[in-house]
Amino acid sequence: MAQDERQPRGTLQVRTIAMPADTNPSGDIFGGWVLSQMDIAGGTAAAQHAKGRVATVGVEAMTFHKPVKVGDILCCYASFEKQGTTSLTYKIEAWAIRSGEYHLDEVLVTEGQFTFVALDGNGRKRKLENS
Ligand SMILES: CC(C)(COP(=O)(O)OP(=O)(O)OC[C@H]1O[C@@H](n2cnc3c(N)ncnc32)[C@H](O)[C@@H]1OP(=O)(O)O)[C@@H](O)C(=O)NCCC(=O)NCCS
Repeated sequence: MAQDERQPRGTLQVRTIAMPADTNPSGDIFGGWVLSQMDIAGGTAAAQHAKGRVATVGVEAMTFHKPVKVGDILCCYASFEKQGTTSLTYKIEAWAIRSGEYHLDEVLVTEGQFTFVALDGNGRKRKLENS
C-alpha cells in the first residue's frame, strides 16, 4: 500500500508540537528529537503493559520517510508486536499534522520497531507476567 493511503496504526501515545529549539542546522526538525518522542511513546505503552519500569534495549528498522517542520504536530502511535520473557516489542509510527494544515490528513514521517525490557527496582531485568 502506498504510504499516502495508510492510516495510523496503534494507540496514540504522544502528541506534541515541534519547536524551533528542536531543529537541525538546516532548519528541519532533528531526527534524534523525533526518535526520542517515539521512544517515549513506546516506553509509556510498555510500562503500562509491564506494570512497572522499563528500559529501551533495542531500536530497529527505523525509516525516516519525510521531514518534520517547526510547528508540525507530531503524533506517535504504538502497536504491540510481541512479548518475550522480559521484553516487549512495539511498532511505533510518527505522523505529522502539518502546521496550518489542520484540515488535511496526517502524514507518516517516521516508523521503527522498539524493544523494551521490564526492570525491577534495582534496574535488573524482570520476568513479565504470562511469559
Ligand atoms: C536492559 C538490560 C538490563 C538487559 O539486561 P541483559 O542481561 O543485557 O539482558 P538480555 O541480554 O538477557 O536481554 C533481555 C531481553 O532483551 C532482549 N534484547 C536484548 N538486546 C536486544 C536488542 N538489541 N533488540 C531487541 N531485543 C533485545 C533479549 O532478547 C531479551 O528478551 P527476552 O527476555 O524477552 O527473551 C541491560 O541491557 C541494560 O541495562 N541496558 C541499558 C538500558 C538503557 O539504559 N536504555 C536506555 C538507553 S538511553
